[in-house]
Amino acid sequence: MKNTILSFLLLLSTLGAYGQTTATLRVPEKPTQTISRHIYGHFAEHLGRCIYGGFYVGESNTKIPHTAGVRNDVVDALKKLKIPNLRWPGGCFADTYHWKDGIGPKEQRPTIVNTWWGGVTENNSFGTHDFLNMCELLGTEPYLAGNMGSGAVQELADWVQYVNFAGVSPMSSLRKQNGREKPWKVNYWGIGNEAWGCGGNMTAEYYANEYRKYATFVSDWTNSGGLFRIASGANSGDYHWTETLMKNVPKNLIEGIALHHYAVIDWNKKGPSTKFEEKTYFGTMKSALRMEELVQKHSAIMDKYDPGKKIALVVDEWGGWYEVEPGTNPGFLYQQNTMRDAMIAGATLNIFNNHSDRVRMANLAQTINVLQAVILTEEEKMLLTPTYHVMEMYNVHQDATYLPLSLQSAAYTLGSEKLNAVSGSASRDKNGLTHVSLVNIDPKNKQEVTIAIEGANYKSVTGRILTSKTLQDHNTFAKPNLITPAAFKGANLKGNNLKVELPPFSVVVLEMK
Ligand code: AHR
Repeated sequence: MKNTILSFLLLLSTLGAYGQTTATLRVPEKPTQTISRHIYGHFAEHLGRCIYGGFYVGESNTKIPHTAGVRNDVVDALKKLKIPNLRWPGGCFADTYHWKDGIGPKEQRPTIVNTWWGGVTENNSFGTHDFLNMCELLGTEPYLAGNMGSGAVQELADWVQYVNFAGVSPMSSLRKQNGREKPWKVNYWGIGNEAWGCGGNMTAEYYANEYRKYATFVSDWTNSGGLFRIASGANSGDYHWTETLMKNVPKNLIEGIALHHYAVIDWNKKGPSTKFEEKTYFGTMKSALRMEELVQKHSAIMDKYDPGKKIALVVDEWGGWYEVEPGTNPGFLYQQNTMRDAMIAGATLNIFNNHSDRVRMANLAQTINVLQAVILTEEEKMLLTPTYHVMEMYNVHQDATYLPLSLQSAAYTLGSEKLNAVSGSASRDKNGLTHVSLVNIDPKNKQEVTIAIEGANYKSVTGRILTSKTLQDHNTFAKPNLITPAAFKGANLKGNNLKVELPPFSVVVLEMK
């Protein structure tokens, strides 16, 4: 009897280590919603070693292979990610940046003190031409963040004319004088950044009025109709901000409203990037998954004023934020990137995909050496982080047709708190291939996901997985390939029933045809 009870308890404990999640994948006859590739955008601020030392090493005094000062290894890696857009020059830095200081002969450019990030003096050697030419090299669309905080309307209007006007004008002549005959055609323009904080500590009502004025003078110099003006948006759950902008800004002056939300356990005690316990991990994931609620609630406000969903919700800053690496400048925000970051990336991108009717652009903060970076550099060395690999695995969703995947997740439990363990999203690409991305954030338990497929008969399934031995694992310059995607064998398709076994803390992308 004692043995039977013991075996029963043992069986229960094994069952407990196996979460059960059910889902339905519906393939509508004529699906209409697209997952914009711009959800997979990136962000490059003049902050720490993101630009200088990250993207840009300059043209002299470097042994690092480069094209016009931009690292070739970085360009190759980002091209593989298919980055659709890149936001620059900030962040908080943008509202201190005067673009005319960054054009013309480099040796004549004035310096600027980066008051937000480390107080370092920059020589403005990476300016408008350098950034826009780099975007051409990367095959990505530029997203310029205009200075509303400390700049003038005329300054922003001049910048737009300088980069976009083909005809004869003072600014297009200046551009030509600086060596660029043809305009670049920049569609995406941010009108200030975090106007509620570092961008000027404005109230929503004051900002809405200022926005109307600035947006009026950001003209479509290309006459191609592609102009996309993005208002500085809410800080996480500041719904009053979104409501005020939606109410007070005429629809012909705005194409997008931003939202910033970072996954942080406590702004006063952010915790280290690699040495964390499960309690901290749980807290980070709780903060990251809050994105679902934020997107739903901001979208509901937008729906009230814009039922046709003309205006996009642009989550132009998101990602995990921890303490800086020991011994590094606290103002440089340099942090390592572990499997925890892979979980944040996979789960957040699933949320964006699933709300792609309204979320049509997003920017991970930030591309290189800052916060949840996809790339870290150390002199001539470069490594790809787990977040990079998730972005690469997920790039199959870019501009693909959204397919609804409804999921009833098992719980990831810690003490008395619960989170959904599994998240997912699905799409069909232009070649007819269906991709399903699944994330299991539970660090201890495997998950069996049973997906009922409606509306399609798939013949085969293959997949890739990103996981590792411990949640704290990360790629280092000594071991840059500790974490890389591998072939996944845990999916089984029988008729219209797909069973997937997700290991603890794993990201899986399946392909079905
Ligand atoms: O990404 C780092 C900083 O976070 C940005 O400069 C700012 O917009 C936000 O507060």
